[in-house]
Amino acid sequence: MEENQERNPLPYDLIILGASGYTGKYVVKEALRFLDHPPLKTLALAGRNPTKLTQTLRWASHPNPPLRIPVLTFNTSDAQSLLSLCQQTKLVLNCVGPFRLYGEPVVAACVETGCDYLDICGEPEFMERMEAKYGEKAAEKGSLIISACGFDSVPAELGLMFNSRQWVEPAVPNRVEAYLSLESEKRIAGNFGTYESAVLGVANAESLQELRRSRPRRARPVIPGPTPPKGPLIEYQKKIGVWAVKLPSADSIVVRRTLASLTENPGGLPGVNESVEQIEKREAFWSTVKPAYFGVKIGSKSVLGVLRFITVGVIMGLLGKTAVGRWLLLNFPAIFSLGWFRKKGPSDDEVRSASFKMWFVGHGFSNGSLASQGNRKPDMEIITRVMGPEIGYLTTPIILLQCALILLSQRENLPRGGVLTPGIVFGPTDLQERLQENGISFDVISKTALSQ
Ligand SMILES: NC(=O)c1ccc[n+]([C@@H]2O[C@H](COP(=O)([O-])OP(=O)(O)OC[C@H]3O[C@@H](n4cnc5c(N)ncnc54)[C@H](OP(=O)(O)O)[C@@H]3O)[C@@H](O)[C@H]2O)c1
Repeated sequence: MEENQERNPLPYDLIILGASGYTGKYVVKEALRFLDHPPLKTLALAGRNPTKLTQTLRWASHPNPPLRIPVLTFNTSDAQSLLSLCQQTKLVLNCVGPFRLYGEPVVAACVETGCDYLDICGEPEFMERMEAKYGEKAAEKGSLIISACGFDSVPAELGLMFNSRQWVEPAVPNRVEAYLSLESEKRIAGNFGTYESAVLGVANAESLQELRRSRPRRARPVIPGPTPPKGPLIEYQKKIGVWAVKLPSADSIVVRRTLASLTENPGGLPGVNESVEQIEKREAFWSTVKPAYFGVKIGSKSVLGVLRFITVGVIMGLLGKTAVGRWLLLNFPAIFSLGWFRKKGPSDDEVRSASFKMWFVGHGFSNGSLASQGNRKPDMEIITRVMGPEIGYLTTPIILLQCALILLSQRENLPRGGVLTPGIVFGPTDLQERLQENGISFDVISKTALSQ
């Protein structure tokens, strides 16, 4: 196959699917910044409607005239159109969601043709179902299928690894809690696509539990020290000055899958054709990552802000369970999400006015030997932070494109194939440095000894 490709190279390095969607068009804009420089020499946009794709290209190229980029049509309900796309490219970036509704045929076509796949999915059930159904075949065919290459869940994955690497021997972390704080000068509301994906996720929560019950249990990492207590529903996090409540996003689930893969493969996953130096580099990287209990909370400066999060969660949880409730949720997003989402996405100005901070508050032991001493409490705290622009339409495209560029330029150092998490594949690469170069920062905030 590789020999064949050398003689007869594929027409495209990458194809963006769902390019005319709200997030897709920002992904196109980001991709154009890297086009014409190795490793991204050829790009195509794909969607259902060629007119919309041409408008996307005009929007994304502005203020320059639109570039001459091929526009391809497909529909996820037409398997042949998907196979034909996948046969023309090394890599697919999938922005067609909700993934629960439209994602599987795309994964199936990528696996069938052996091309690689990245998406911006934040739906755990879809990710785990794809792993269960296509994991083996993807490994066999040499196709890398990696979901959650956007704000869900790369900042959480790399942020946890970054915090973990600050625990220098003999210190060990026990738990890391991430606190997400969203800021915007213009009160941004998210686009309907993300809201619909969340509503369908709530409605189908039981299918994820069923899927897990039907699968062998994944390995669990050994984490030094006691299991952390559950804690109160609402917490005031003094060090960063926010009220916070548990965020039921995909992040902690994706991180747990990465830690399970790491426990099963302590040196990480071998690259398809790595050099000896690369093997050493990969193993050295993973030896510095220490597993910890991990959770994510969403924070607000005021307790009222947190009560608003809880209210939306309760409304979605209750209404999402019945057909009538879902109809109400999906037809009146602005009302039932208390203004967080609306049918039409935010304006470009609103997007540019927003940003995020994700604080990683790690608790652990200054010496690993203390962890096994009965009920000893953590005596050390390390706080780190990941920070960047608006999450859905700026940070997500930045992350997706950097993952894509790594895939195109360092394929031999990455696993041959499989359905995997971003953390286990991109952890030991230069993804963190690349994100830093593109406006997403990773900082150590404090290291403190805790009184007992
Ligand atoms: N990871 C993250 O942090 C993150 C961030 C942002 C978005 N997302 C996810 O990305 C997904 C898209 O969100 P969005 O707001 O961009 O939604 P959107 O604006 O509705 O875009 C959906 C795209 O899918 C295309 N599409 C729908 N059905 C199709 C089909 N049968 N065949 C081919 N294409 C089809 C649409 O085509 P048309 O253009 O022709 O309508 C559109 O381009 C959601 O699942 C959302 O949760 C994740």
